[in-house]
Amino acid sequence: MSRNLAQQESPLHEISVPRTIVLVGMPGAGKTSIGKRLAARLRVPFLDADSEIEAAAGIPITEIFSRYGEAHFRDGERRVITRLMGQGPMVLATGGGAFADAGTRAAIKAAPVTTVWLRCSMPVLLRRVAGREHRPLFLNNDPAEVLSRLAQARHPIFAEADIVIDCVDEQPETTTRRVELAVLNHRPPARLPVPLGRRGYDVLVGPGLLGRAGAHLADALPGRRVAIVSDEAVAALHLPTLRAGLEEAGFAIALECLVPPGEGAKSMAQYQRVVEAILAARPDRRMAVVALGGGVVGDLAGFAAATILRGLPFVQCPTTLLAQVDSSVGGKTGINTAQGKNLLGAFHQPRAVLADTATLATLPPRELRAGWAEVAKHGLLQGALWEWCEVHGPAAIAGDPAALTHAVLESCKLKSSVVVADEFEEAPDGGRALLNLGHTFGHALEAECGYDGTLLHGEAVGIGLGLAAMLSARLGQCSQEWPGRVLSHLESVGLPARIPDLTGKTFSAATLIARMRADKKARDGALRFVLFRQAGAAHTADGVPEALVETLLREEGCTP
Ligand SMILES: NC(=O)c1ccc[n+]([C@@H]2O[C@H](COP(=O)([O-])OP(=O)(O)OC[C@H]3O[C@@H](n4cnc5c(N)ncnc54)[C@H](O)[C@@H]3O)[C@@H](O)[C@H]2O)c1
Repeated sequence: MSRNLAQQESPLHEISVPRTIVLVGMPGAGKTSIGKRLAARLRVPFLDADSEIEAAAGIPITEIFSRYGEAHFRDGERRVITRLMGQGPMVLATGGGAFADAGTRAAIKAAPVTTVWLRCSMPVLLRRVAGREHRPLFLNNDPAEVLSRLAQARHPIFAEADIVIDCVDEQPETTTRRVELAVLNHRPPARLPVPLGRRGYDVLVGPGLLGRAGAHLADALPGRRVAIVSDEAVAALHLPTLRAGLEEAGFAIALECLVPPGEGAKSMAQYQRVVEAILAARPDRRMAVVALGGGVVGDLAGFAAATILRGLPFVQCPTTLLAQVDSSVGGKTGINTAQGKNLLGAFHQPRAVLADTATLATLPPRELRAGWAEVAKHGLLQGALWEWCEVHGPAAIAGDPAALTHAVLESCKLKSSVVVADEFEEAPDGGRALLNLGHTFGHALEAECGYDGTLLHGEAVGIGLGLAAMLSARLGQCSQEWPGRVLSHLESVGLPARIPDLTGKTFSAATLIARMRADKKARDGALRFVLFRQAGAAHTADGVPEALVETLLREEGCTP
């Protein structure tokens, strides 16, 4: 692959400090009193959106409402707030209804600002608004009734703010300090666009995304009803967080469908179960399928989404390293059949990918290592990422969050650029097929082991990378140092690197070659490999002599 593909400018969200802070929340939440104190602490001006609107209109808000009505007021409010979004850093307190207005909210979200929801419980709010009964909002009304009606409508919208601060009865100075700390510590997730036109979407990478899933998905999905598909092991660990994150922003969870963990779930039987469960919830085309889990759940749920009602919106919440660096991006979905792996499937791009890196902390170490094989593959395709892997791979595998985040981001960037250039894998040479580096050998080994967990997909890919390097060297495509470099990297992260590392397993070279010929990537029954000249320069190769492949496999311990 060409190097300039790999060196595309990073589209990541940069954090610029100080940013404008926009406070949202119910009447009585303390937007003005906290806002003034926060502005003083951050040494930026404090502005109150309502006062700005009054100044612009030249009359009090009550009069704008009574003379021209609410719609007119909201138009003016949107104009004033949009103007303020283009000005220097400040703390801006917004009126209770400003963020609830779709146009104003979009203007705020499009600006480089941090939004903070000052969330108050009803008893706290009621105590705070006591004495404000003369306000137009409460005039001749029961404040408790007014506030709870407003809260029901607006809390799910306020939940789209970047930061949520729970306000309790404490000194305003104390709340202000908590807000300040949260603002200063806030790191928006990295956002990587996958520019596929109408089918384009963002990959978000960072810790804690599941707990704010609703906020992150609000603009990506057409509706507020979802079906979650997960596996039993992942659901026990991460489903409650996702559920809360979705419900906070007003998403209704129509059903939760759990499948058994492992490759066995990518079966016709589980596909049928999932599809029937979703259909029983009477979906319309606005209902989204949310996949929470590894590549198995993502492939299965994505295929169900692709086929129900000829296509439901779909979200990937990958929880394995393999799924975060590879399977969740690119839109390949599918299941296995008796004839082979991934033979039944569809291209169906997700509407969003939430790669919550905190979920990797619960992943069994062997699964983490298996996912690394796909990172190493991306490194070999990309170039600079390979050198980084050689230095930082062991730290990432030991759980270093910064190294893991880097690996996920760089892998997604590489995968996205390849997918965007060849979405449906139609390029005659190179293109998306390059992502199969190590997979021709890997798939054959995996199939021979029967997908029973004795050899994980990523482990098979790791051994495949070593064999692809050896084959490239034998064909004179790369220098002789490469096989050694690839093998020692795999060993450094604790992956099996060669066939003899799979103790207790014997493979027949003829059987492996027969499997490779039947691989869906083979063309007219001829073997097709991805080879490389160096990291960052891979290519597809047809017509590799079978005898050479057989000799290599025999030398690696296979029987005839
Ligand atoms: N669609 C694509 O482009 C693509 C690309 C590569 C691989 N794949 C597919 O991906 C599948 C492999 O995916 P995988 O390796 O993620 O396997 P997986 O989905 O089976 O997950 C591996 C195991 O880890 C558990 N697990 C997942 N997340 C966890 C977490 N955070 N904490 C604790 N346990 C957790 C699961 O329950 C499972 O037992 C294969 O079927 C492969 O074909 C698809």
